[in-house]
Amino acid sequence: MISIESEMTERYPYLATSELRQMARLAWRNSHRCIGRLLWNSLELLDARDAATSRDVFEACIHHLEHATNGGRIRSTITVFQEAETAEKGIRIWNQQLIRYAGYEAADGSILGDPRQAAFTRRVMAMGWVPPSRRGAFDVLPLVIEVPGESPCIYQIPPESIMEVPLSHPEFRWFAGLNLRWHALPVISDMALVGEGRRFTAAPFNGHYMGTEIGSRNLGDEQRYNLLPVVAANMGIDVRSSRSLWKDRAMVELNAAVLHSFHEAGVTIVDHHSASAQFMLHVSNEEACGREVPGDWSWLVPPMSGSACPVFHRSYSDSRPEPAFIELQALWH
Ligand code: ARG
Repeated sequence: MISIESEMTERYPYLATSELRQMARLAWRNSHRCIGRLLWNSLELLDARDAATSRDVFEACIHHLEHATNGGRIRSTITVFQEAETAEKGIRIWNQQLIRYAGYEAADGSILGDPRQAAFTRRVMAMGWVPPSRRGAFDVLPLVIEVPGESPCIYQIPPESIMEVPLSHPEFRWFAGLNLRWHALPVISDMALVGEGRRFTAAPFNGHYMGTEIGSRNLGDEQRYNLLPVVAANMGIDVRSSRSLWKDRAMVELNAAVLHSFHEAGVTIVDHHSASAQFMLHVSNEEACGREVPGDWSWLVPPMSGSACPVFHRSYSDSRPEPAFIELQALWH
């Protein structure tokens, strides 16, 4: 009987870096939830397949943050680690993104920080992570890295590798007093790059932000930072009647603050109208090449003013071709 491992080495020879880069670019082009795909062909690859220990993986992640942040002129980047030898095993980064803010649950059930990270925060604290002595709403979580055969290791990211943008509003002076901020770089770290039977279980990748991801969802969602009531109250809008459209008006100003602040800080960001227009250009480029565009309408349409964006007014292909980025089962629950 041939062992699975020798079978795999035979069937899957080591990819050249250029082949791996192309695989990653195609996976981006196939990402049915992503509105930013016009830029798929510019994805940069950092080939880290020689990282052997969790410390090596951590160092490559720091290098990724610095390369991709690039002082604010964000470069779309993927770092690919060693291929998983079997379907179940492989290097794993436990964090959902390389940069995420802790969510601390108080005894009364209220949460300081990002509620979406509350369970993960509890877990890393149980593993020995010590939060800053004065806990805040924007404390960056440590990385948890697991290499097969070793127990998971926790690493604190050096603050100088993390760029953040303090939020202010172009007109409302009081806005800066809310002391809000967000990180410049969204690096998804819990998805695998797969295709042709290959599986890279650690392959963190980033593009740049679209403003609504922060202004509408991260800061606006009721189950996230839930800031619409706070912003509306400061604007002096009547929050007792939904007919005042206080949520909508607060959401517009929160988004205006995000776009303004990133722009002022010299950090790449795109508004949802430009992103939508760029996506339509991508669709026509693809159609001109005879390819259909895999898409999930419910993800592609921006969470604010959807029908004012051209992406709203058409449908997309249900095909889900590979190479692809796929969701992995979290290891830490
Ligand atoms: N929506 C996620 C966040 O707010 C990021 C997802 C990826 N976004 C991107 N622009 N590449 O952090």
